[in-house]
Amino acid sequence: MAEHDLSQKEKLYHLTIPQENSPFFLKGSNNYDWGMKNRLARIFNPDSGKTVMLAFDHGYFQGPTSGLERIDVTINPLAPHADALMCTRGVLRSLIDPATQKSVVMRASGGPSILKELSDERIAVDVEDALRMNVSAVAVQVFIGGEFETQSVTNMTTLVDRCNRYGIPVLGVTAVGAQLTRDARYIGLASRILAELGAAFIKTYYVPDFETVTASCPVPVVIAGGKKLDEAAALTMARNAIDAGAAGVDMGRNIFQSDAPLAMLTAVRKVVHENMSAEHAFELYRELKNR
Ligand code: 5RP
Repeated sequence: MAEHDLSQKEKLYHLTIPQENSPFFLKGSNNYDWGMKNRLARIFNPDSGKTVMLAFDHGYFQGPTSGLERIDVTINPLAPHADALMCTRGVLRSLIDPATQKSVVMRASGGPSILKELSDERIAVDVEDALRMNVSAVAVQVFIGGEFETQSVTNMTTLVDRCNRYGIPVLGVTAVGAQLTRDARYIGLASRILAELGAAFIKTYYVPDFETVTASCPVPVVIAGGKKLDEAAALTMARNAIDAGAAGVDMGRNIFQSDAPLAMLTAVRKVVHENMSAEHAFELYRELKNR
C-alpha cells in the first residue's frame, strides 16, 4: 500500500511543484514588507509596471490654479481613468468619493505659498491621518539646491521613518529651484539623493539624457508633466520618458488644462501602458476630442 500512500501524498502535497517565489515586479522594491508592496501595487500596474497618476495637489501652494477652480466638476470625471490620484488630504476628504477604487498618493508637505520662498516647507500631514485616509503613499517636496535644502531633505527622511513603521511608501518629489538648471546632471543628483535617503519612488522632470537619471536611481522614477504644453509635445515627452526608463507619469496641468482632458488622459494611458507611439496617441487624442 506504500505506492498508494505515495501517490496520495504526491496529490495532497504536490511534491513536484516548488513554491512560487518570484521577485516583486517593481524596481528596487523587492525587500519591502507585504503591506508596502501591496500599496505600491495599487499605484503601479503589476502588468505594465507603470503608473498614470492624475495630479491635482497644486492648490496646496497655488490656491485655485487654472483648471482646479472646481475639482468636483473638472477632476472627478477623470479620476476613474487614472491609476492613482495625487491630491491633498483636504481635497480628498471634501471632494473625492470614499467609494473610489483608485489609489491615493497624498501630498504630505507644505507651508509656503507662491507668495513666499517655496523651499521653506514642513511636514504637513501626520502619518496617523495618512493611515486614517487609507492612502497608498504620501508625497513630499525636496528642494535640492534650494535655500532650505537640508530642511526639506529632513522633512522627507522624517516622513520615511514614520511611514516605514506602517508600510506606507513615500514619494520623493524633486523641486527645481529657479536658479538651478533643469538638466540630467541636476535631476540625476536630486533623484539619487531622494532614493538614497529612503524615498520608495521619485517624481521628477523629463530632461535630455533622462536614461542616465533612471539608470542611476535604484527606485522607480515617474515624471511630472510640468507647465502646459501642446498635446502633441506632452505625449512626446511621456513617450520619451517611458523609453528612457520612467515607470510612468504624474500629470496634472497637461491633462486638466487640455482642451479635452479625458481624451488627453486616455492618450497618455496608451503611451504609458500600451507602448503607443506619441504620433498615434496624438491621433487618438484628436479623434476622441472631436467625437
Ligand atoms: C504640484 C505637484 C504636481 O503633483 C506635479 O507637478 C504634477 O503636476 P503637473 O503635471 O501639473 O506638473 O507636485 O506641486
